[in-house]
Amino acid sequence: MKAETIIVRGGGGFDPVTGAVSVPVYQSATFRHPALGESTGYDYSRALNPTRSALEKSLALAEHGKYALAFSSGMGAISSLIKLFKPGDHIIVSADLYGGTYRLFNEYYSKYGFSFSWADTSDFGQIEQNYCPQTKAIFIETPSNPMMKVSDIRRCADFIHAKGGFLVVDNTFLTPWFQNPLDLGADFVIHSGTKYLAGHHDTLSGFIVHSNDDAEVRLRDAQMSEGATLAPFDAWLTLRGMKTLALRMEKASRNAAEIAGWLRKHPAVEKVFWIGFPDHPQYELSCSQSRGHGGMISFYMKDASRVPSVLKKVSLVLFAESLGGTDSLITYPVVQTHSAIPEAMRIAAGVNDRLLRLSVGIEDAGDLIADLEQALSS
Ligand SMILES: Cc1ncc(COP(=O)(O)O)c(C=O)c1O
Repeated sequence: MKAETIIVRGGGGFDPVTGAVSVPVYQSATFRHPALGESTGYDYSRALNPTRSALEKSLALAEHGKYALAFSSGMGAISSLIKLFKPGDHIIVSADLYGGTYRLFNEYYSKYGFSFSWADTSDFGQIEQNYCPQTKAIFIETPSNPMMKVSDIRRCADFIHAKGGFLVVDNTFLTPWFQNPLDLGADFVIHSGTKYLAGHHDTLSGFIVHSNDDAEVRLRDAQMSEGATLAPFDAWLTLRGMKTLALRMEKASRNAAEIAGWLRKHPAVEKVFWIGFPDHPQYELSCSQSRGHGGMISFYMKDASRVPSVLKKVSLVLFAESLGGTDSLITYPVVQTHSAIPEAMRIAAGVNDRLLRLSVGIEDAGDLIADLEQALSS
């Protein structure tokens, strides 16, 4: 089956008992046992729930993995993934990544004996420099949030596999519609399903997708033990959102291309970061490992003092945290998504007080440009 079909129908089609074409929301915490020692396969929803299973099946197929585990948020997924490692292990992480991931690693897991090195993973030399005998994984976001740097998935995978470790790729920005990291050698794919997969800014969800039998046993156990599993209705919302992933990604990507080109010529804007520009430093790499550029754009204003007025004046584009939905959002990473990152590190990564991030939705591109024009120009 082609990707479009898998995304729409991968979850299993219709309910065999009632014929319902929408996977039912199995809103049940527990499941009756027919007799002692017998089970329908479902016992308790923290361990397994049929709606969540349908979603997991769908995403595993879409990401070309054998397994997918659904969590109550992207952070829940990342936190459970860390349970594959043990205190003393070291992980090389993209320095330019979602601030919540930085907070989880640096403020929580570092207290439990894990260590992390923050590197510009788009520069392969920095990965080599940060490697040490305790390094058990490389964790990358590509493209990165918010500076849109692209890391070489194949090269990172070859490097860490030769040392016996794992490559983890957060694929939230491009989704399986545009990029399949497992095909490029990654061992684990992370998603904040809250973003493009669910796609409507109406629910949180998170995923780990992979094909490792041994890890599957350990991850299922971690998921069930910790309990950050996705609730049935949120699983259903994500499953429903995913059905239009291909259409939404294509439209958001076309809109982003138009807006990025327009922003680049705007007198109030100093620099635009978008992976679809042929002069983006990793444009060739990006085209070699992904099938599209997605809907995310970041840009520097020339003058930081104009930022509050832009955020107040946008009206169609909503000033809000998050990304990846039907509705366009503008975010100020310094005070929102990346506020947990220490100032010096944030600024070294390029996240300064002139940086704004746009998650381009699926509205009319002309309407979005008109809204940005009135906000940027006045
Ligand atoms: C790239 C990326 N990964 C992970 C997360 C965390 O996901 P969630 O907010 O669903 O916990 C986010 C959230 O913004 C993100 O942007």
